[in-house]
Amino acid sequence: MSNEDPIYPCPVDEDALPKHIAIIMDGNGRWAKEHNLRRTKGHEAGVETVRTIVEHCSSWGVEVLSLYAFSSENWNRPAIEVNALMMLLKTFLRKERDQLHQKNVKIVAIGDIERLPSAARKELELSIEKTEKNTGLILQLALSYGSRDEIVRATKKIAQMCVDGNLRIDDIDEELISNNLDTAGIPDPDLLIRTASEMRISNFMLWQISYAEYYSTKYYWPEFTGQCLAEAVEEFSSRLRKYGGLG
Ligand code: IPE
Ligand code: IPE
Ligand code: MG
Repeated sequence: MSNEDPIYPCPVDEDALPKHIAIIMDGNGRWAKEHNLRRTKGHEAGVETVRTIVEHCSSWGVEVLSLYAFSSENWNRPAIEVNALMMLLKTFLRKERDQLHQKNVKIVAIGDIERLPSAARKELELSIEKTEKNTGLILQLALSYGSRDEIVRATKKIAQMCVDGNLRIDDIDEELISNNLDTAGIPDPDLLIRTASEMRISNFMLWQISYAEYYSTKYYWPEFTGQCLAEAVEEFSSRLRKYGGLG
């Protein structure tokens, strides 16, 4: 999104806005194929959508935007695609960091960050550090992220506390588990959007999405716009969330 592109108006009042929107950004490859382009071009186009959607969430007053950018399973893709994605991550962070900082956006990351190539990891660490004190939108990037991997790592931390005598088994509760996940301190997603028509979760925030409202759209991620986001938010605001009760 260039600076001249208008922001689509927020479709709901502030209190009806999801506090945390999580997005499984899917369909870059299919979009590229339909346009007779290489898959990498689809990922490049997807970066533009990231910019647009961050701008919208930031201007509407969403508290947290979580973007599933690279899964623990995406390492299994051909090296050429993995390398292109890591290069895009690095250049996105390097190019956008200052602008995001100016917009008061706070960047955080979840996932097995150690696995990222050092150049991308360095840009990520610099971005996190630079925006650490910002109080606007929290942009939570899921990188080398798998929910099962996250739960395994959290379980090991908790087991170690028990072994060290710092925790009793009876004191393990939902809050303790939440506080040991990568998302510690971040409220659970209210709205989970997946683009490109898929109806699966693909190992994304399995614990945290327990009561998120799921929304699927046919649009490929490079086609997803502020208006598409507004439609998802509008649909979200019409849902009755019952949490197992009677609503
Ligand atoms: C989403 O687009 C981006 C990543 C998973 C990194 P895909 O690359 O999965 O696109 P499709 O599903 O092949 O169309
Ligand atoms: C999920 O998309 C991962 C990301 C969006 C980063 P995939 O395209 O990898 O998921 P599957 O393979 O369709 O389940
Ligand atoms: Mg996909």
